[in-house]
Amino acid sequence: MTPAEADRLVDSPSAYVHIPFCSSVCPYCDFAVVAGKDDLAERYIAAVIAEIGLSERWRPLESVYLGGGTPSHLSPRLLGTVLEALERHHGIAAGAEISLEANPEDFDHTRASQLLAVGFDRVSFGAQSFDDTVLLDLGRRHRAGDIRRSVLAARDAGFRSISLDLIFGSPVESDGSWRSTVDEAIACNPDHVSCYSLTVEPGTPLHRQVRSGAPAPDPDLQADRYEHADAVLSGSGLARYEVSNWSRPGHECRYNLTVWAQGEYEAYGNGAHRFRSGARSHNVRRLEAYIERVEAGRRPTAGDEPLHGWESELDRLFVGLRRSAGVADGPGVDALLDTPAGAVLTRERVIERRHGRLVVLRPLLTDEVHRSVLDLSPPDGWDERSNTDNL
Ligand SMILES: C[S@@+](CC[C@H](N)C(=O)[O-])C[C@H]1O[C@@H](n2cnc3c(N)ncnc32)[C@H](O)[C@@H]1O
Ligand code: SF4
Repeated sequence: MTPAEADRLVDSPSAYVHIPFCSSVCPYCDFAVVAGKDDLAERYIAAVIAEIGLSERWRPLESVYLGGGTPSHLSPRLLGTVLEALERHHGIAAGAEISLEANPEDFDHTRASQLLAVGFDRVSFGAQSFDDTVLLDLGRRHRAGDIRRSVLAARDAGFRSISLDLIFGSPVESDGSWRSTVDEAIACNPDHVSCYSLTVEPGTPLHRQVRSGAPAPDPDLQADRYEHADAVLSGSGLARYEVSNWSRPGHECRYNLTVWAQGEYEAYGNGAHRFRSGARSHNVRRLEAYIERVEAGRRPTAGDEPLHGWESELDRLFVGLRRSAGVADGPGVDALLDTPAGAVLTRERVIERRHGRLVVLRPLLTDEVHRSVLDLSPPDGWDERSNTDNL
């Protein structure tokens, strides 16, 4: 993907829809999820549809992403009613990318055909590992065989794009286990792969276990495993286009690329985050509170942060530097390169300015670059009222 293609998605109307329902809650998960509340599913989807109706009408959407939680836990019929509501309210552009996240244990040929019939064309499976011992330790309900069967079902049904999510660095995982997970993932012939290092999120059962003495993921091992995955995936025709994402040409996730291009996107559902009308905002997180707010006819927004001037320029760097394409030159890039931290990052070949862009050469150090970006002050003479006059 060329930098121009990545930047073009700054203008690509998109929507995220959060589906919080799961069969059980995995011990490492920090997302806004619930288990054992399936009786609320119909009411929740009615609330999401009502929230769509409460939002400002937009242009036809070019990408829609149903994430979770576990969207595949709900019936394709219910998920289809959400797509219909988006179509009625905003329109959905011809050729739009319509993705859902799916758990391998929920997926088969029938479900794949039903999901295609209601409009989905891309599926992202939460595979995590092809080692059943690791899957068991992560508290997952599926086994490696379910992943292979799900990918085949999605392929046979005719999904345009199939993605696999993998997690590396759980304490029970060995080097050999991770190597064969990457090999097995490639053997499934996916169009897209995401690899995430297992993160111990505060407040999760995993966090409590680690605090009580259970082994924690080792960051050095995780760095080695990331580099192994990058080398093998890149050697198999899957190019890295973002810190944690690899794809075949043309199969990059358009919704995520819109987010990283600092494009605007709507978001619906509990805990969902959006960027619309120049402001980042998010919805109330608790499922019942979300439903009650929307049923009372109110928008369920819990907080918002308008992005102006310098903040917007730093936000552009913050989201855009995750991409292999990096970001186009601008006042934030000049400011970063002028700081002592920017000079060190350049000297150590963590970042590089080339062909009118700033790119991160060592993706594992992206957090370090982010920290330097957050510390940046506007240059002398910066006019906070008019961002464009400063560019
Ligand atoms: C929001 S989850 C939903 C997808 C699906 N329910 C699942 O878990 O398979 C999206 C992805 O985030 C990743 N993820 C969630 N929690 C994580 C954690 N604590 N550390 C690393 N990756 C995590 C997993 O790879 C997961 O597939
Ligand atoms: S299935 Fe996915 S979203 Fe649900 S609890 Fe597990 S990691 Fe979280």
